[in-house]
Amino acid sequence: MLGSHERVFLIGYRGAGKSSVAQLLAPRLGWLWLDADEVLEKRFGRSIARIFTEEGENGFREKESLILGELCCLSRRVIATGGGVVLRDENRRRLQTCGLVVWLTADADTIAARLHKDAAACERRPQLTVGGRAEIDELLGRREPLYRACADFTIDTTRHSIEEIAEQVERWVREAAAKTA
Ligand code: S3P
Repeated sequence: MLGSHERVFLIGYRGAGKSSVAQLLAPRLGWLWLDADEVLEKRFGRSIARIFTEEGENGFREKESLILGELCCLSRRVIATGGGVVLRDENRRRLQTCGLVVWLTADADTIAARLHKDAAACERRPQLTVGGRAEIDELLGRREPLYRACADFTIDTTRHSIEEIAEQVERWVREAAAKTA
């Protein structure tokens, strides 16, 4: 029914709600969902935090690109990507050519509050620069142009429930598919 659009990639900063939305969106489309970070951790048998400690950010980014390439071969999937997947040109190109790209946005205050609440996920998220609120401000500033450059559809998650976001994204995916059918 959704024609050639066999994948939806959710992109956005940490705490934007990518995995939560993916879980609700996939059954609405009759698809499966995947969290790219979880796939990576299983594949390499180590947590992201450990990969960062042992191999640095570059080692992690290599693995992230490899996993993204593999996920692009699966169809009928909603894929929650890691917040930094857009940093590499090759990943941005892949996202754009392999599926529909949906950018979940939230302002820095909202992201900081969500990350603060989510202690378990914090352990999985290694510090990328100086940590804390300053890191969020700095990285959002650097990454927003990259998210924008690959997004086909953007949705502000700040004032909406996960259910509302999943519903809006579903509607947009179906409209996009109908246009190209
Ligand atoms: C990262 C975000 C994380 C994970 C890794 C790097 C980033 O994913 O890929 O810690 O650079 O913003 P989430 O966005 O799922 O937290």
